[in-house]
Amino acid sequence: MALSRALILVVLIASIFSTTMVSAKDFVVGDESGWTTWFDYQSWASNKVFRVGDTLTFKYVAGKDNVVRVNGSDFQSCSIPRTSIVLSSGHDTIVLTTTGRRWYISGVANHCKIGQKLVITVLPQQNSWFPSPSPSPSSVPAPEALPPSDSPWTASVPRRSMLPKKLFNLFHKN
Ligand SMILES: *[C@@H]1O[C@H](CO)[C@@H](O)[C@H](O)[C@H]1NC(C)=O
Repeated sequence: MALSRALILVVLIASIFSTTMVSAKDFVVGDESGWTTWFDYQSWASNKVFRVGDTLTFKYVAGKDNVVRVNGSDFQSCSIPRTSIVLSSGHDTIVLTTTGRRWYISGVANHCKIGQKLVITVLPQQNSWFPSPSPSPSSVPAPEALPPSDSPWTASVPRRSMLPKKLFNLFHKN
């Protein structure tokens, strides 16, 4: 009995995750064009929202190009510090782990100077467990408006209040 209840709980939690967690995105830099010269990466990035947990993939012909993460001033001047880590696999995936600005340039020949450079701003992960306050707080029922603990779940009960109550019942049924 205890085992099956634990199983139900696991399934329930898994379903909460799968329905409410916002999954991370993978952005292929430049889409079909990939990582190349004479491409406007700023307009490519301008309609996208980058968040912690998302990834950037730079695609190009290995050996013909590379990717270097630099700071803002080196981005402007297209210069690469000696200590930089240079990615060169042709299919480089970078996980965005922190918020803030990130700058990437090509370290090959004059590629950076002719537009092969990308600057993005990484925003915090969207937190679906604590959503921003609803525009109509009056739609959230007061606790006394909830059905008694043994009544069936009705469609009129807002989804948001169902899950905690259901979890509560799982633990306190006996
Ligand atoms: C960027 O990095 C270069 C080389 O490491 C350094 O000289 C410069 O001061 C840095 N600029 C900023 C704004 O951090």
